[in-house]
Amino acid sequence: MASSSSFIILAALLALVSWQATASDPSPLQDFCVADMHSPVRVNGFVCKNPMEVNADDFFKAATLDKPRVTNKVGSNVTLINVMQIAGLNTLGISIARIDYAPLGQNPPHTHPRATEILTVLEGTLYVGFVTSNQENRFLSKMLNKGDVFVFPVGLIHFQFNPNPYKPAVAIAALSSQNPGAITIANAVFGSKPPISDDVLAKAFQVEKNTIDYLQAQFWENNHY
Ligand SMILES: *[C@@H]1O[C@H](CO)[C@@H](O)[C@H](O)[C@H]1NC(C)=O
Repeated sequence: MASSSSFIILAALLALVSWQATASDPSPLQDFCVADMHSPVRVNGFVCKNPMEVNADDFFKAATLDKPRVTNKVGSNVTLINVMQIAGLNTLGISIARIDYAPLGQNPPHTHPRATEILTVLEGTLYVGFVTSNQENRFLSKMLNKGDVFVFPVGLIHFQFNPNPYKPAVAIAALSSQNPGAITIANAVFGSKPPISDDVLAKAFQVEKNTIDYLQAQFWENNHY
């Protein structure tokens, strides 16, 4: 029936619109709401500490992003400063990260469910890209040099790769959430605990089950949070 199918389409559209409206952090209703990490009250984000007890240190984190990092198996290390490191970020919808890349290292394909990311290269060169959602799954990519800036829209799968075999690279990224979240695609799909059934993954990836078993047997180290 035409009316019931158009109702379903309308309901689906409304669900999509409301999902988009809540996918980024809600805007603050006061100057700040420094997280009270000790409160037993559960809210979206954290309860506010008494504003009279707030001081500059609630908005501060001593020298953490100046040091080169040890890189992991895929050749990167993400140092994220979110609300867990700076309580004053609570309700402000922003965070920052330093990303170190070994020569030929990468920050593997991942998404941030709650944040758009804007990244600038401090040292070296990065080949970066993201893929648009279904149906198109269009791949947009770019080679970035020192000082260049690139944006990864909220929720989309993206990566950065250091193509230089001799030199490391460093980037700083700002993210539009106090807690952007990260889903590293390979880790989530092949390294989940407990594992997703290899029957499911073999069909989904159109490969033999032993290919899935091989992938699931790898050590999937999560590089960011
Ligand atoms: C990132 O670097 C820090 C400092 O060098 C190190 O303690 C940490 O283990 C590294 N993380 C990964 C995932 O390699």
